[in-house]
Amino acid sequence: MISAVSGFKAMFATALMVGVATCLAETGDATQEDFDVFETMRDTYSENCAMCHGFDGIPMLAGVPNFSKGERMEKSDEELLVIMKDGKGLMPAWKDIFDGERQNQLLDYVRAMPGDQVFSARCLECHENRVPALSHQIPKTKTALLESKEDIEICTGNDIETVISRQELADVVTYLRILQK
Ligand code: HEC
Ligand code: HEC
Repeated sequence: MISAVSGFKAMFATALMVGVATCLAETGDATQEDFDVFETMRDTYSENCAMCHGFDGIPMLAGVPNFSKGERMEKSDEELLVIMKDGKGLMPAWKDIFDGERQNQLLDYVRAMPGDQVFSARCLECHENRVPALSHQIPKTKTALLESKEDIEICTGNDIETVISRQELADVVTYLRILQK
C-alpha cells in the first residue's frame, strides 16, 4: 500500500518534470538547424506556392489570403493542415506531394512569413545562425503583445525595439516563437 502511494508520487513528480522540460523546450535558442529548416521551406514555398500566394505572401490571385498580413492564420493548425492536404477551391491538394512533416514545416513557414521579413531586414546581421531564447517577460500571444502598453525589450544586444513598430515587433516575436519551438 505504502509503496503504491510512493509509486504514484514518483509518477506525479516525473509528470511535473516532463511538464517543466516541455516549457523550457518551447523557448530554446534558435540554432543553425532551425534556420536550415526555414531555408528549405523558403525554397519549397517559392517553387510550389509563390505563383499564387506571392513570394512575400502578397497574393498574385484574387481570393487568396494575404500571408504577409497573417490572413486566415487565426485558424488552428489542424484546420489549416486539412485544407493543405485536401486542397480548397483553386488551391491544389498537397498530400501526395509532401509528407506530414513537410506539411507542418510549410505551415510554420507560412505563419512566420511576416516576421521572416522583419528578421532579414533588422536582425539577421547579428543573428545569422543563432538567436538566444526570448525573454519570459514578453506577452505570450500576438494580440496581447499588440495591445500591451508596456515597453518591451526583446534584445539586450541592441535597442532594436525603439526603431521598429509594435506590429513589426509582434511579427518578429511570432517568427521567433515558431523558430524556437
Ligand atoms: C494554384 C494556386 C495555389 C497554389 C499553387 C497554392 N495555393 Fe494555397 N490557396 C490558394 C487559394 C485560391 C486559396 C483560398 C482558398 C479558398 O478559401 O477558397 C488558398 C489558401 C491557402 C491557405 C489558407 C486556407 C484557408 O482557407 O484558410 C493556406 C494555409 C495555403 N493556401 C497554403 C498553401 C501552401 C503552403 C502552398 C504551397 C505548398 C499553396 N497554398 C499553394 C491557391 C493556391
Ligand atoms: C547589432 C547586433 C544585433 C541586432 C541588430 C539584433 N540583435 Fe538580438 N542580440 C544581440 C546580442 C549581442 C545579444 C546578446 C546575447 C547573445 O547573442 O549571446 C542579443 C540577444 C537577443 C535575444 C535573447 C534575449 C536577450 O534579450 O538577450 C533575442 C530574443 C534577440 N536578440 C532578438 C533579436 C531580434 C528579434 C532582432 C531584430 C528585430 C535582434 N535581436 C537584432 C545583437 C543584436
